[in-house]
Amino acid sequence: MDLSHFLVFLFVLLLSGTGATGSLKTSLDPGLEIYKKLFEVKRREQLSALKNLVQLDDVHQQYKILDVMLKGLFKVLEDSRTVLIAADVLPDGPFPQDEKLKDAFSQVMENTAFFGDVVLRFPRIVHHYFDHNSNWNLLIRWGISFCNQSGVFDQGPHSPILGLMAQELGISEKGSDFQNPFKVDRTEFVSSSDPLQKALREEEKRRRKEEKRKEIRKGPRISRSQSEL
Ligand SMILES: *[C@@H]1O[C@H](CO)[C@@H](O)[C@H](O)[C@H]1NC(C)=O
Repeated sequence: MDLSHFLVFLFVLLLSGTGATGSLKTSLDPGLEIYKKLFEVKRREQLSALKNLVQLDDVHQQYKILDVMLKGLFKVLEDSRTVLIAADVLPDGPFPQDEKLKDAFSQVMENTAFFGDVVLRFPRIVHHYFDHNSNWNLLIRWGISFCNQSGVFDQGPHSPILGLMAQELGISEKGSDFQNPFKVDRTEFVSSSDPLQKALREEEKRRRKEEKRKEIRKGPRISRSQSEL
């Protein structure tokens, strides 16, 4: 298994929530305080996985991994939102007791926070995917708002992430003092880095070609099934 496959595997693993670990089952109130501790552990795992991705230092690979990862992340976010809304779980209401709801709640917290990490570290790659996807935009707006009201992000090292990501994504207006904290040491930001520009362009070209190939392959099959009707 090469590194990029390993990382995809790792991220898929990370996208599963902490809520269903079972350790909460026998714990009593306050559910939220217990969850905050689990959240800390999960955040440490996420950040350390992300460090591997940063260190990969290969924009093609990062592109591919983020593509897979973001699709997974937003799928989880969407499913969790559906579950929470259907059950009328409010972000500032009592911490859910039901395992399925607890899991959905934790998924929203963890995937939203993780998306914040990713967009701050890989703004260009993430913007490339995110900026044309209105569904993702709606989902993350909802996620940020839900997290903001949950109390999970109120204190501690994770409190700035929601505000920073909202600004980076253009969801809230960039304050005059807004600065991406990872800007300094990330080569991704060096605008004069032509190799990167080139790599990104090539990657986009390759993707477009692939899409077109898929379209063509789809074509005859569609017309055949139509004529069969
Ligand atoms: C979180 O909620 C507070 C209070 O409603 C608000 O002032 C702040 O802008 C919100 N932050 C984000 C990132 O939405």
